[in-house]
Amino acid sequence: MAKYIVEQSGPLRGEVTISGSKNAVLPILAATVLSEGVCEINDVPHLLDVEVMIQILRSLGADVSEDWDSHTVVVTPGQSTVSEVPHDLVKKMRASIFVMGPLLARTGSAVIALPGGCSIGNRPIDLHNKGLRLLGARILTGDGIVEASAPNGLRGSLVYLDFPSVGATENIMMAATLAQGTTTIENAAEEPEIVDLANFLNKMGARIKGAGTDTIRIEGVQHLHGTRHAVIPDRIETGTFMVAAAISRGDVLIKNSVPDHVRPVIAKLLECGAVVNDEVDGLRVRGDVKDLVATDIKTLPYPGFPTDMQALFMALLTTVDGTSAVIETVFENRFMHAAELSRMGANIRVDGRTAIVPGNKHQLVGARVISTDLRAGAALVLAGLVAKGRTEVSEIYHIERGYEGFHDKLSALGAKIERVED
Ligand code: UD1
Repeated sequence: MAKYIVEQSGPLRGEVTISGSKNAVLPILAATVLSEGVCEINDVPHLLDVEVMIQILRSLGADVSEDWDSHTVVVTPGQSTVSEVPHDLVKKMRASIFVMGPLLARTGSAVIALPGGCSIGNRPIDLHNKGLRLLGARILTGDGIVEASAPNGLRGSLVYLDFPSVGATENIMMAATLAQGTTTIENAAEEPEIVDLANFLNKMGARIKGAGTDTIRIEGVQHLHGTRHAVIPDRIETGTFMVAAAISRGDVLIKNSVPDHVRPVIAKLLECGAVVNDEVDGLRVRGDVKDLVATDIKTLPYPGFPTDMQALFMALLTTVDGTSAVIETVFENRFMHAAELSRMGANIRVDGRTAIVPGNKHQLVGARVISTDLRAGAALVLAGLVAKGRTEVSEIYHIERGYEGFHDKLSALGAKIERVED
């Protein structure tokens, strides 16, 4: 298994270009199941998770061609009516569940292994199921499998989500595009990835209004056609390089970023004393202007502070002056990285959903640490850049699931990082 060897590096300097969004492209690829024509997706990041989604589409009968030089994926729907997703693919990626809504709407049935929990929490799919049931689907779960069917098609309905779940909003929105009548999703998630998915579906002929607000209306249509779409830039990768600039006390220009998508990250970096400028070419982040200080973080659904940025910010907060509180409200168990950061010298105390993070510019020391999930792994790499000595980050397949060319992009900014096979 591969790992990263990270040495204490100086301030990161230079430019980095952000890839297409992982969390936008996964549901967009799943949504091609709804199409009767060819879909061309541009700005697709080359990630392990994307490869798994492509395998899923192939297993469902689609013809998929990918060109990673141009970051383009072309999906041609097949004639087959397969509606069962292979178990081994679901095990590799939770986001496999995104094909449930599209499959159900297109073929009248979907059989998928239950994705189960992961290191950040239980991650149930009850809200996905609740929404699809309200659209008229019959859903049975048992033996680790979810079986959904709608032999007479789906009907539009009012769906109130008890929590604005990103995945449930996306699954229900996709299924509703081909339902008879109008669906309204209330307390919907408002993330930019939902807007991107709605834009893609609308280009295919869907009628969706309100994506990006808490109420989404979908008027069902009979057919969706092929289209071409470019994926939005990855806001979490953007935030990761913003934190990389700050933690290394560097100066980095982040190209292909959408400042509006990272407002809470900008706000928190400013509170810490970093300088963030929205320049013509991208976002410029400087951590070398004044001493950085503590600030408190509370994760919330969009437009609140993203849970996916929590671990990365925690790494930064271990290096600033003063003590910060980090409160995680979205996932129940997303503090595994706190123990790993503590192995590097940070003395973090976790009590329930709150972590108390004492900061000190010189406290981190290199250690052997484990990447427990995607963002935790990236956070440990960033901590390794400023820790004295050498840090070994293992289980980096988590990182490679969601960051395209992470170590190459960091190296180009001056980071001392090497990928080695164990
Ligand atoms: C998506 C993102 C992930 C991000 C998360 C929150 C993708 C591929 N992944 O994950 O990177 O961290 O949004 O911003 O887009 N929940 C339920 N029942 C459900 C569904 C969710 O209780 O049916 C709970 C979850 O356990 C969690 C919370 O709702 O506590 C948020 O989950 P959700 O918004 O659904 O996250 P994902 O779509 O899985």
